[in-house]
Amino acid sequence: MQTWRLDDARQTLVLCAQGGLPQVTYWGAALPQGEDLSVLHAANARDLSGGMLDVVPPLSLCPETTQSFPGQPGLRGCCADGTPLRPQFKLREVVQDGQELRVACTDEARGLTYTATLALDTQTHVLRLQARLDSAAPIQLDWFAAPVLPAPDHAAEMIDVSGRWCGEFQLNDLPWTPGSHLRESLVGRSDHAHFPGLILPCTGTSNTQGAAYALHYGWAGGHRMVAEELPDGRRQVQFGHASGSYAAPATQFETAPLYATFSDIGINGCATAFQRHLRDRIVTTPTPRPVHYNCWEAVYFNHDLPRLKDIATRAAELGAERFVLDDGWFGLRDDDTTSLGDWQVDSRKYPQGLGPLIDHVAGLGMSFGLWLEPEMINRDSALFRAHPDWVLGEADQATGRGQLVLDMARGDVQSYLYDSIAALLRAHPITYIKWDHNRVLPVADVAQTHGLYALLDRLRADFPQVEIESCASGGGRADWGMLERTGRIWLSDSNDALERLAIQHNAALFLPACVTGSHVGPRLCHTSGRMLDIGFRAWVAAQRHMGFEMDPRELTAHEAQVLRDVTTWWKANRDWMMMADILRLDSSDAAVIAEQQIAQDGSRFVVFAGRAATSAQIAPRPLRLTGLDPAARYTVTLRAPDSPQAQSRGQIALKTGPVTLSGAALMGQGITLPCSDPGTMAVLEAVRREEAP
Ligand code: DGJ
Repeated sequence: MQTWRLDDARQTLVLCAQGGLPQVTYWGAALPQGEDLSVLHAANARDLSGGMLDVVPPLSLCPETTQSFPGQPGLRGCCADGTPLRPQFKLREVVQDGQELRVACTDEARGLTYTATLALDTQTHVLRLQARLDSAAPIQLDWFAAPVLPAPDHAAEMIDVSGRWCGEFQLNDLPWTPGSHLRESLVGRSDHAHFPGLILPCTGTSNTQGAAYALHYGWAGGHRMVAEELPDGRRQVQFGHASGSYAAPATQFETAPLYATFSDIGINGCATAFQRHLRDRIVTTPTPRPVHYNCWEAVYFNHDLPRLKDIATRAAELGAERFVLDDGWFGLRDDDTTSLGDWQVDSRKYPQGLGPLIDHVAGLGMSFGLWLEPEMINRDSALFRAHPDWVLGEADQATGRGQLVLDMARGDVQSYLYDSIAALLRAHPITYIKWDHNRVLPVADVAQTHGLYALLDRLRADFPQVEIESCASGGGRADWGMLERTGRIWLSDSNDALERLAIQHNAALFLPACVTGSHVGPRLCHTSGRMLDIGFRAWVAAQRHMGFEMDPRELTAHEAQVLRDVTTWWKANRDWMMMADILRLDSSDAAVIAEQQIAQDGSRFVVFAGRAATSAQIAPRPLRLTGLDPAARYTVTLRAPDSPQAQSRGQIALKTGPVTLSGAALMGQGITLPCSDPGTMAVLEAVRREEAP
């Protein structure tokens, strides 16, 4: 038996091998140095009983049918002649380099080499796992899992993520039951419906306490996730590209990175590990994050230069620092049936090009961003008329939002898009692209995603000053594969603050504030028909990377003042808030969605407690905080609402002035918020007191 271990201050992962593919036999709370890993392995081995094989087939990094593994194998495919691929790997070597393991296994008879990398980032606590398969002869793969991890025995439930347009990041608590739970995005993008993430809380775990595991597959192109309980009770989780993603036989296959983390401080420990890892290791977000203004919900396709200039002037006056010109500026794009692919400025709307608008925006002290949807094409476009063969999939396929997808694997398509976008970026001081993607793919196809990545990589290399936002009808591509190449996610097309509150609360399991766009929408929300107060809309946007998306001409003087005030507050706090940990609070009131953003040095925090509905009980329960030093004292001030609330008649402490309490009290018993209506936000600001010991 050979053993290896990866350690950080919080977790240990143990790998064991007996001549074949290694298996993870322990992943959880940090083990003492000196633990006998062979004994550990033996102590956790399953017993044998009647009706079982005479050995327990290993739950290896890539479970093999040739080992009589009783669950989903880690690899499925066939040789060129159609013979099913049933490899039997032998361990060649495992090389350990600090907290990184490189595993190499071969199946000489079949000409196959399996390699895997397991690397633990000891600062962020995030594991990065990736597998690769090399074959001497072309093979057709249907399924290839990233290194497979065991899931905890001591858990009754898993939490996966579903969603829809305007309703992203819905969490589902699902019971572990015998057999497999499959989540698969077959539509060529990570998609609203199947965000590639899984949370595995152990029994009794909440946001703020207990043991939990979290996994995320960093791939934009559609994935498959299997969480399976085997007949012997063991559990495994597999993530990989969606089945069928490999269109043709090939000799090399590589999974995307699977990110994983363990926490013994509740689900928040996983969330903050992911937030930090993404922010500090994967994305590059220029700071300070500028306040956005996006004109989509103000003008849609009706671009009119004087009107846009007026809107820009007002947006700047409200505090916007970047103006993003959304869909409708190119081709003959008067609605969504036409012109995708024709990335030339519409001279009917902009007779002198984009220059006059950009100059006006620059004169207001704002930078300029532009909307593009490069991977798409309308049949009604010059591009389609010239190159109907550039479309991915069948000629007579159904359109989505009137559009089709370009075949991004083609060199000529990539060149055309690069040249079109580069021409715009060279001609104008554009520092931002909102990169949209409003149609699912006809098939999941690895080459399509690699084509997209190549185009993004080339543009980023040649135009490093240009930041890119990933949008796909809102949050349809919010995965870390995209975020390796972009710096912001347009999390949802829902600017309904009530819905956004929940969407961004759940997305914080995977995404930090600095990449999560959140805009103040119109008074009457366009996607829900709901009317919401400006204070609530502004504070919900202030929880993340703030922006505005309403027509500023609709604002009353009072609304404009509230928006200016919250924006000023956000600017004063963004430097630490965009680097803060977002901790989801265990609210004892189902009607309150609350989070605490705490500075990395623990010196200050802000609590956002959004009232999403009317409570069952008549008065609010105290809200318990988290992540504080129990012995330290914190002075907590009610920042919002800053005016008397009709519903609140009592004399609770927060209403009469700042409250100073210990971390122990704030975490143990909590603090009472004023009564409030649904659609309001309580904001508490707090500083840790510097007190002599
Ligand atoms: C979908 C996006 O999510 C919206 O924000 C907007 O950019 C539209 N597309 C434009 O067509």
